Amino acid sequence: MSVEIRTTSPDETLALGRRFAALLTAGDIVVLAGRLGSGKTLFASGVASGLGIREQITSPTFLIEKVYRDGFLPLIHADMYRLSSIGEFEDLELADEGRDGAVLIEWGDTIEDSLPADRLVIRFDIDGDGDERVISFTPHGTWADRDLEVLV
Ligand SMILES: Nc1ncnc2c1ncn2[C@@H]1O[C@H](COP(=O)(O)OP(=O)(O)OP(=O)(O)O)[C@@H](O)[C@H]1O
Ligand SMILES: [Mg+2]
Repeated sequence: MSVEIRTTSPDETLALGRRFAALLTAGDIVVLAGRLGSGKTLFASGVASGLGIREQITSPTFLIEKVYRDGFLPLIHADMYRLSSIGEFEDLELADEGRDGAVLIEWGDTIEDSLPADRLVIRFDIDGDGDERVISFTPHGTWADRDLEVLV
């Protein structure tokens, strides 16, 4: 069952990311889906901050993935937007690398067939033309056993 949360400012999305960080454990795969500018990277920087990572998370322009190791849990932040083929994704071996940490994959919905069955999909929808975002958390596999209602 999905959990849906509405945010009305960038700060609220950042704070939601910080709260969400507390749910993460090693090996977690999280897909961040939604159109350009919907808040995926902002949410990811909230997660990083919640994990105690000091380095600023950015949208990797030339990199497909970046690993942040200075928090309570390693965070792998990936962006599939510039990926030209599934083969390129499989070369990344994110799941292997992510065993010790949590993996956040922006535009991960474009490569969902290559992802493990146990994953959480977070979808960002822009509501109207202002600062409102509807953010929905949809568990797959063992994610269904986690209590996502604590985020509300
Ligand atoms: N409620 C909100 N939540 C998140 N971002 C918001 C909100 N309201 C306005 N914004 C703005 O929307 C933009 C979101 O940018 P962000 O880089 O996080 O998007 P993105 O989904 O990662 O885009 P891309 O697909 O290009 O990587 C920021 O400029 C932010 O200030
Ligand atoms: Mg982004």
